[in-house]
Amino acid sequence: MERILDIITDKMQAAFQAAGYDPAFGRVTVSNRPDLCEYQCNGALSAAKQYKCAPIAIARAVVDQLDRADYDLVEAVMPGFINLKLSGAFLRDYLEAMRTAPDFGVEKTGAGKTIVVDYGGANVAKPLHIGHLRPAIIGEALKRLYKHLGYHAIGDVHLGDWGLQMGLIIAELQERQPELPYFDPDFTGEYPETAPFTVDELEEIYPTASGKKSDPEFSHKAHQATLELQQGRRGYRALWNHIMRVSVADLKKNYDNLDVHFEKWLGESDADPFIPPMVEDLKARGIAVQSAGAWVIPVSEEGDKKEMPPCILVKSDGSSIYATTDLATMVQRMQDWNPDKILYVTDKRQNLHFEQVFRAARKAGIVKPETELEHVGFGTMNGADGKPFKTRDGGVLRLEQLISDMTDFVRTKVVENKIVDDSEVEETTRKIAMGALKYGDLSNQPTKDYNFDMERFAAFEGNTGPYILYTIVRIKSILSRYGAWEHLPIALPANDCAKDLMLAMTKLNPSLEAALRASSPSLICAYIYELAGAVNKFYHETRILTEEDETLKAGYISLIALAKGILETCISILGFSAPEKM
Ligand code: ARG
Repeated sequence: MERILDIITDKMQAAFQAAGYDPAFGRVTVSNRPDLCEYQCNGALSAAKQYKCAPIAIARAVVDQLDRADYDLVEAVMPGFINLKLSGAFLRDYLEAMRTAPDFGVEKTGAGKTIVVDYGGANVAKPLHIGHLRPAIIGEALKRLYKHLGYHAIGDVHLGDWGLQMGLIIAELQERQPELPYFDPDFTGEYPETAPFTVDELEEIYPTASGKKSDPEFSHKAHQATLELQQGRRGYRALWNHIMRVSVADLKKNYDNLDVHFEKWLGESDADPFIPPMVEDLKARGIAVQSAGAWVIPVSEEGDKKEMPPCILVKSDGSSIYATTDLATMVQRMQDWNPDKILYVTDKRQNLHFEQVFRAARKAGIVKPETELEHVGFGTMNGADGKPFKTRDGGVLRLEQLISDMTDFVRTKVVENKIVDDSEVEETTRKIAMGALKYGDLSNQPTKDYNFDMERFAAFEGNTGPYILYTIVRIKSILSRYGAWEHLPIALPANDCAKDLMLAMTKLNPSLEAALRASSPSLICAYIYELAGAVNKFYHETRILTEEDETLKAGYISLIALAKGILETCISILGFSAPEKM
């Protein structure tokens, strides 16, 4: 649906033209004086310079050309502003069109376009820790937003499943169980179907092996195992498959718990076959040059404010690195999906890496000139005290633990407040906890650091997930007491609170678009916080179910029903949902 701002700008431009002025002056903006009006046009002030006359005269002439039925207030005020308040009829018609349109009339600006969202970034054989919360939550919300706006969005977890960490595990396993057939180079039989370790063992094996990196002998073995794995040694490949199967099943379970779902479970290993031909090609075309034994792609540009080191493609020992994999992954993505855009969601400490990789990819022509590349670098999540999040013994907190702490905290409230029957405690708790966790994160601009404060995030009041959920639950409860509400048309606003609520609802489309443009789900949070505030104000100031005039009552119900639909749409983009009771 066309945005209100565009509709009234069109009308304003027509009025400028009808009054004899250049229509280009008729741009309308949201008012910066909400106490005076809802929208305003300052075009008469600029027009006055061109037409050499008093701005107020132009403003008055334009106002005369506007259709009064659209506005409760249209006035030309000194020195030449045009102030506008929309009429109830205008809002009613607009919201009725929203109510009956698919997805409340949200414009599908991404139709026909493909985007790859690279998020999650889990590493195989390492448990998810709190550092994996933000890429999962922010990435999922951005992907859902793109989908909602019509894009074909492919979420790819881009697993860290290659490289030294695999060699470390293989070397450690070999020390522990040298008799396994995987280590016998002459073994030609079938390898066992079950893995020689469980996921819990694997999660102990990796850190142990990693701790032995400083031992030169062990480190050499691990490097050697990595190399042989990558060259395709049969036994190591079989072990790698075991590691992948055990670990990925566990990762899937954890992401499922967070309601985070990837379309593709590809990893660094999937990029490996693309590396040799890519490197050969880049060398042949002179894009990669030799530097101190390594092959690099120079990426500094004139006008760079900071130093821009070259992007390393092949190290002097012949091995490839993180950047090589990311470039090869782009080759694969362009070949398989030909996306219009690739969006990466990682910690902002990887800013330089992506800057180098993007420049190298453009220079090498790995992506098309019009392919958009964007990196959303997010800030750190700290503890409630603002200090880095650590477990009591100074370790890194597991994501599972964080989720279960939040869930326990919420469950206590649900049980104490006797919110639901025993049989529904778990489901209600889970939904509120997810809302608290995700909204607590997403309401911050991604680039900012923030403090994880369980009590604050789980509060039912204030700018929190549970407050938004509570608002939805409140509407659900009114609707269920009212009866059939699904087909009630939107009515004229019956009071100021109703009108404010209507105005807030019209901002769905612009808010989603702004969030997409800024890659910031926080703008969706800010929007629903405002909308929930308008709902609750309307609720407190209006007798809804006790209203005797049935027509008025139906009008109230249709308004809050639409608000529920909009709020539910937005939280589903953010990645959570409302319980039935709270
Ligand atoms: N596995 C990486 C890490 O733990 C994150 C991967 C992000 N995506 C990418 N295409 N580099 O840092």
